[in-house]
Amino acid sequence: MQKPTPIDEEIVLDPKRYIVSETDEKGKITFCNDYFMEVAGYSKEELIGKPHSIVRHPDMPKVVFKLLWETISQGLNINAVVKNLAKDGRYYWIFTEFEIRRDTDTGKIIGYHAARKSISKHVIEIIADLYAELLEIEKNEGIEASEKYLISFLKEKGDDIEFSNIMEEIHKFY
Ligand SMILES: Cc1cc2nc3c(=O)[nH]c(=O)nc-3n(C[C@H](O)[C@H](O)[C@H](O)COP(=O)(O)O)c2cc1C
Repeated sequence: MQKPTPIDEEIVLDPKRYIVSETDEKGKITFCNDYFMEVAGYSKEELIGKPHSIVRHPDMPKVVFKLLWETISQGLNINAVVKNLAKDGRYYWIFTEFEIRRDTDTGKIIGYHAARKSISKHVIEIIADLYAELLEIEKNEGIEASEKYLISFLKEKGDDIEFSNIMEEIHKFY
């Protein structure tokens, strides 16, 4: 499927509704709720079995997903602010809580669960600036440089910030 061309138009989310999806351990979508389909504009058939990057927005820096995967694949939960791309090219910002899904008998990771909700305009503005900076660094110097920048950005805010709650911490600062 061809990636939609992004347009500069935001989808306004209902603050009371969660956008929910589940994936297997590789990030292929295994479940999505009605609100996910409504906002992203895809049918269930278009989503199930597809990589979750189907809603990836080109404004998102790679380092965010690198940290995300490093964290969840270790079995740790994480929160992240993400800008997503809908099928019609519009975008929506969400605060996402990622959780690990485990086999109840073996404890092995069988996939992941993500529940997303809307965030305030104020937080979006700050995160959008940070992500634009990270993206620019990635383009010019690569992902290692953008990771360094993100770490020093967080260090400035406090000493004991861990990757597993990196985004929650960013969220708290503002
Ligand atoms: C449960 C779960 C939910 C995800 N939700 C999103 C999402 O809403 N938007 C997004 O861009 N990536 C999401 N991802 C991350 C994607 O798997 C992927 O890493 C990301 O889109 C970057 O694409 P790339 O790894 O192909 O560069 C999610 C991953 C998991 C495990």
